[in-house]
Amino acid sequence: MGIFKGVEHVAIFAADTKKLADWYVQYLDMVIIQDNGQGILFLLMSDGSIVELIPSPDGQAARERLQEKESGIHHIAFSVEADHFGAAIQRITAEGGAETVGETPRQFPENLATFHFRDPEGNILHLISRAHRLSLAAPQILKSAPKNALLKGIEHIGIVARDPDALRQWYVSTLGFNLIVSDDGHGTAFVLTSDGRSVLEFTQCKRDRGLLPYNAPGLRHIAIAVAPEDADRAARLLKADRVEVLEDYQKLPNGQHLFYFRDPEGNVLHLIARTQPLAH
Ligand SMILES: [Fe+2]
Ligand SMILES: [Fe+2]
Repeated sequence: MGIFKGVEHVAIFAADTKKLADWYVQYLDMVIIQDNGQGILFLLMSDGSIVELIPSPDGQAARERLQEKESGIHHIAFSVEADHFGAAIQRITAEGGAETVGETPRQFPENLATFHFRDPEGNILHLISRAHRLSLAAPQILKSAPKNALLKGIEHIGIVARDPDALRQWYVSTLGFNLIVSDDGHGTAFVLTSDGRSVLEFTQCKRDRGLLPYNAPGLRHIAIAVAPEDADRAARLLKADRVEVLEDYQKLPNGQHLFYFRDPEGNVLHLIARTQPLAH
């Protein structure tokens, strides 16, 4: 496996993290596994996927900020089995009151079904049911994971790019991830992380939002897992690649290693190495 292993979590800056977390628990089958008491919450899904909610500094939600196909880290897609697809939509919209996005749900050939919606703060989320998984690894069995979940975990993270071909190539050449689909017939490419567990989706933007602050409301960063013994070297490799550094490499007293940077289109990534895994 490469030095950059995979996605440890994706982060959303939210106006009210506790309220949003409660909605994610109730309707998206997540459990809260860590609460720092200052509004930062980590949520776990049944396959081991993790979402981080962070208070947005201006107390604003993402709602007015992001339209379909605008550039940036755009959406999180959750995997649902075909048999449970209708029930999941019903629960999210009827009970959860989520608004839909565009023409949805949609059924594609080869048993691919999608459903696009917004969480209560306006972040764009998808449900996806696919006959064949894109990721390779078997789901993790974690004691703290929710049981009997309709939504299994993060199927992919959608990145909308000015130049999707060039951007995905950076994830392949610099982070060592693997291109698994260069065009799915709709102009979309998929890249698999080195650990085989996570998939990044690259599509062409219709509108360039420019460079967003690292703490702007909405879906804002992807944390890349590295081993503690590799963290320093990983940060040096990225600096040699001339990434824009947002917070330089540091080792915290709790043993975590962190390094915040941007990919070539300005999307915020950070390296994370933990001595203790976040979820067990
Ligand atoms: Fe997607
Ligand atoms: Fe994070």
